[in-house]
Amino acid sequence: MIRVYADPEEVSAAAAALFASEACRAVARQGRFAVLLAGGTTPRRCYELLAQAPLRDRIPWGEVHVFWGDERCVPGDDPRSNAGMARRALLHHVPLPPAQVHPIVCEPSPQEGAEAYAAVLRAFFADGPPRFDLVLLGLGDEGHTLSLFPGDSALGVRECWTTVTHRRGEDMDRVTLTAPVINRAAQVAFLVTGEGKAAILREVLEGGADPHQLPARLVRPEDGELLWLVDRKAGSLLRHESNISLPR
Ligand code: 6PG
Repeated sequence: MIRVYADPEEVSAAAAALFASEACRAVARQGRFAVLLAGGTTPRRCYELLAQAPLRDRIPWGEVHVFWGDERCVPGDDPRSNAGMARRALLHHVPLPPAQVHPIVCEPSPQEGAEAYAAVLRAFFADGPPRFDLVLLGLGDEGHTLSLFPGDSALGVRECWTTVTHRRGEDMDRVTLTAPVINRAAQVAFLVTGEGKAAILREVLEGGADPHQLPARLVRPEDGELLWLVDRKAGSLLRHESNISLPR
């Protein structure tokens, strides 16, 4: 399902409302809410809205468990850190027990950090493979999501929940969850805004490219819902209207 909103602010508000309603639903059903946060810049405003009234006061923070889909291997106070961004925008402002915040730590090495994060997931989802209640994702302008980049051998990793990747041209490694983990989630929502994403969004949603060249296409929940929350500019090149709903 693709929902097209007027602008980035409305996309952020819709994503924050989705977080709040899924948190309440999951806590009522099973006593806890496991959410996977996206990195990048697009979700920052959503996180800020969650940190403010009225949503802040509606969310049962005592039962929320926060995870990340990927991390850039930089110090926590580096502006590029995904966990750092979420802490500044959201986590520092809500009554979430610190033990329920599960950042990806790339220490002592990215590989060991990836293995340690798989162990964190194993301990939390004690009954079997991870099933997040909600996964938030972003879309890179060449079709990546998480830290799964076009053509990378990490795209073929199916037996591990986490792996190390490197984006060409960057001076840091990354640790990322793999697509099979995301595909077990109950609800996955991509947040995509701006005209700079319009062409790749059309390619991902309506093109025929091999998912290994367009990693966002690897995201296909097996038994869950896939939502695209996009603004008008990002959605401006979409042609097939059957899956598009205009909330306003
Ligand atoms: C990261 C991400 C990545 C991101 C997209 C979109 O750590 O880089 O998790 O997958 O979501 O690159 O980023 P923007 O929201 O900044 O466009």
